[in-house]
Amino acid sequence: MLRPAQLLLMLGLPLISPAAIPPVDETQVNDLLARMTQAEKIGQLSQGVINTPEEVAAASLLVREGRRGSFILSASAEQAATFRNQLQKVALEQSRLRVPLIFGYDAIHGYRTTFPIPLGLAAAWDAALVERAQAVSARETRAAGIDWTFAPMCDLARDPRWGRVAETFGEDPYLGARLAAASVRGFQGDNPAAPDRVAATLKHYVGYSATVGGRDYNATDVTPFSLRNAHLPAFQAGVAAGALSVMSGFNATDGIPAVADHHALTNILRGEWGFNGFVVSDWTSVEEAIAWGYAADRAAAARLALTAGNDMEMVSTTFEETLPAQLARGDLSPALLDEAVRRVLRGKLRAGVFAQPYTDPAALDRVALAPDALATAREAAARSIVLLKNNGTLPLAATARRIALIGPLADDAGEMLGTWPGHGRPGDVVTLAAALRQRLPASTRLDVEFGCELLETGPRTRALTDGSIVSDPAAEVDAAKAKKRWSSALAAARRADVIIAAVGEPRGWSGENASRAELDLTGRQSGLLAALAATGKPLVVVVFSGRPLVLTNVAAQSQALLQAWHPGLQGGPALAALLYGDQEPTGRLPISFPRANGQVPIYYNHAMTGRPTMVDYRDLTRAPLFPFGFGLGYTEFTYGAAEISTPPDGPAVARTIITNTGKRPGQTVAQFYVRDVACSVGARPVQELRGWETLTLAPGESRTVSFPLDSAALGFTDRQGRWLVEPGDFQVWIAPHAGTGTPLPYRLEKAL
Ligand code: BGC
Repeated sequence: MLRPAQLLLMLGLPLISPAAIPPVDETQVNDLLARMTQAEKIGQLSQGVINTPEEVAAASLLVREGRRGSFILSASAEQAATFRNQLQKVALEQSRLRVPLIFGYDAIHGYRTTFPIPLGLAAAWDAALVERAQAVSARETRAAGIDWTFAPMCDLARDPRWGRVAETFGEDPYLGARLAAASVRGFQGDNPAAPDRVAATLKHYVGYSATVGGRDYNATDVTPFSLRNAHLPAFQAGVAAGALSVMSGFNATDGIPAVADHHALTNILRGEWGFNGFVVSDWTSVEEAIAWGYAADRAAAARLALTAGNDMEMVSTTFEETLPAQLARGDLSPALLDEAVRRVLRGKLRAGVFAQPYTDPAALDRVALAPDALATAREAAARSIVLLKNNGTLPLAATARRIALIGPLADDAGEMLGTWPGHGRPGDVVTLAAALRQRLPASTRLDVEFGCELLETGPRTRALTDGSIVSDPAAEVDAAKAKKRWSSALAAARRADVIIAAVGEPRGWSGENASRAELDLTGRQSGLLAALAATGKPLVVVVFSGRPLVLTNVAAQSQALLQAWHPGLQGGPALAALLYGDQEPTGRLPISFPRANGQVPIYYNHAMTGRPTMVDYRDLTRAPLFPFGFGLGYTEFTYGAAEISTPPDGPAVARTIITNTGKRPGQTVAQFYVRDVACSVGARPVQELRGWETLTLAPGESRTVSFPLDSAALGFTDRQGRWLVEPGDFQVWIAPHAGTGTPLPYRLEKAL
């Protein structure tokens, strides 16, 4: 069986030595436990939420009685530390056992310094960069009085209709696992109790992203094989990297709510992987086991969750309400309760809340938006942006005298922040319009035009950026304004040498509870683009979105196309640098972009089929518009024919020569794909990424890349969790993206 350490080695990641994670004083844990009443124990497993002073006041009463051990601290950045200190003081001075509280929060892609959404971060294909970004996030988060972030998300993107693909690291288990482990290291460092680190949470365990129809909170169908090979690897890598906690998901696979899934939470997580942190539920998901039709009532929901291995209940209160009677009746063993409390207490010790229960309220101001934080946000934004098409219009020529920047996202600071902005502020965002004004050559004039709303507005209604439609009697005035904006944008386009269109979807249309049935540009943006294209002027389109949109028409109408995700505070300067070629575009898609809505779900690593040449649609190819791994730069690379060589002292390697055949220096991401031609367990994917190497080459320069054909490259996990490498035929290849390359046959003679 592949133990966590082996998995890390397989992923080419350094091991965190167990000594680096501070040992827990088990005597302290057991001593506290021995002195706790049953109610106090249950309190340690109960998590509340605080936003306002009134909620802090109400929570204080519970804390005094030992009835809450943790809070989600979602108050404003100014109030967070004060609220924490107030409640902590109650815990330490007025509660009987003085056990400190632990405070959690969703710092998903930044706290004050907002980074690109995780899907964007993944497009950099750079674990070290992700680690640095999360370290910045950890520093600001801890300074705000938060010990514990609910990140990284380890769910595997499967269906772009699901809004939460924005929070994933994309559709590949290998890339996802490396970036999940890097995130844990970034958040926790060597010591999650350090004043600039926080405890990490691997979420949502497990299979949440397989949600049927891409509808959030829906049931999931996950086969045991895809559970092992697609959905679990990122969690396993995160556990091996030392994550202190795991969050169970909102979903139910095979009718079992994730919060009550004993096989996943106990057999796999703790039994197979040796995870010794604690598991928190998702928001009210314990009581939702009733709505799932699994638990008959609140008592059953609490019992099933705790028995399955879910230690802490977020927001709902079934533990507090029902566990005492169930324990008294003997329906639950006290030892089970004790074990859950032990895990939470260990987590608190490891996260440093016993040693450092209070926070300096001035700390955040000292570290927020530090120069290195902004530089990292800028670097991450630039590295996340993917150039999808370019007919030579980019980089922009200094000779372009007049540029028309048009679209609802040209100058909208708030929209750049993405789905979990933390406490990032629109005032700290540099928009594309602002950045271009800075960057333009003196001789170039910039006209910025709004064009149209992001969302369609009708008479007497108005769309909010979160997607909801509110009634608004002033909307009829808006209609006249809309007409004026449209014609003014077209007039600017006609005057311009180059048009840059900044379009996409609202940030509130991706993320949680933000599924979409149609993945097109929202509102009248498609019409706007068509009108801009009809001017005949060179059209550069920049798309800001939390998911792959269907960009088929957009690509056809434009001369150049950039996918910018929701890029965070520094998206504007990053884009300006790429547009002018001050920096090379280096991003690569971590997710396939569909050609049409009807193609989804679509992902490159789908299972093999019996009639592989016959799976197209009558009316469309099955091929995506832009495949996984795809991205252009301003130079050209040639991949030579791959070959396999077998050194006497090690595993065979696949290798190829890559040459920069263009005129500029540039970067390519050499991707190593494997197909197992026959597998005893069942069809493996048609191709799987098993390594990549990023090369920066000068014009004319060549370099050889090689990937070992070892156990890590060729193996898979069977349904029992064993890592197997079966002798037989494979195909291996090295390519710049998943949609190209010539597979090379390779025969593995004996098991590795
Ligand atoms: C989300 C989690 C999040 C939690 C706490 C839930 O609705 O699914 O991802 O961590 O809320 O905010």
